[in-house]
Amino acid sequence: MRYLTFALGKGRLAKKSLELFENIGIICEEMKDPKTRKLIFVNEELKLRFFLAKGPDVPTYVEYGAADIGIVGKDTILEENKHLFEVLDLGFGACKMCVCGPPSAREYLNQQELIRVATKYPNIAKDYFYNKKHQTAEIIKLNGSIELAPMVGLSQVIVDIVETGSTLRENGLEVLEEICNLSARMVVNQVSMQMENDRITKLIKDLEKYL
Ligand code: PRP
Repeated sequence: MRYLTFALGKGRLAKKSLELFENIGIICEEMKDPKTRKLIFVNEELKLRFFLAKGPDVPTYVEYGAADIGIVGKDTILEENKHLFEVLDLGFGACKMCVCGPPSAREYLNQQELIRVATKYPNIAKDYFYNKKHQTAEIIKLNGSIELAPMVGLSQVIVDIVETGSTLRENGLEVLEEICNLSARMVVNQVSMQMENDRITKLIKDLEKYL
């Protein structure tokens, strides 16, 4: 039997994913050691391999078949737009993709004038402004602390993830428009889905039963 390989998005998602797998009898003890610098973890008994990758890289590993299965946020799936099957909503990591800004920025969204939008998600922002709102937008790519952009005058609004809303509140910003709901998803390589159909289908069924 060949190894079935999982790519997990580093951080909170990976921790939650491992907890979820434990509930359906998939355990990987060596991965739980917080001091380990290992990158790949193996469960010999079940012939499974796990590795941790940066969230935005997970769809790439899965598209190329370096991982059969990935666990990644819907935000990353939308942004990276790779060829893969999204098979399951895992429910955790729930949040929303939103257009946010100071209350005064609302007027820019109701006009058809050029608007400046800062974001870590340029593809999602382009799709929303160009294809859904039909508004011309200058999209400025940032890598973090996106909320700063309207506060220091880089952009009028941002497109970003809102989970509890506390970052917005503490900085005098608010949700102006909601784009979509997000959560962790399981994605599968298109060839693996055929070649390893029995094992992957069983895994999906076990997870569905548990969820
Ligand atoms: C994310 C997101 C928001 C914040 C939202 O940032 O970009 O800034 O969390 O969470 P909240 O609604 O619960 O306040 P993250 O912490 O991932 O860091 P980043 O600024 O580097 O993107």
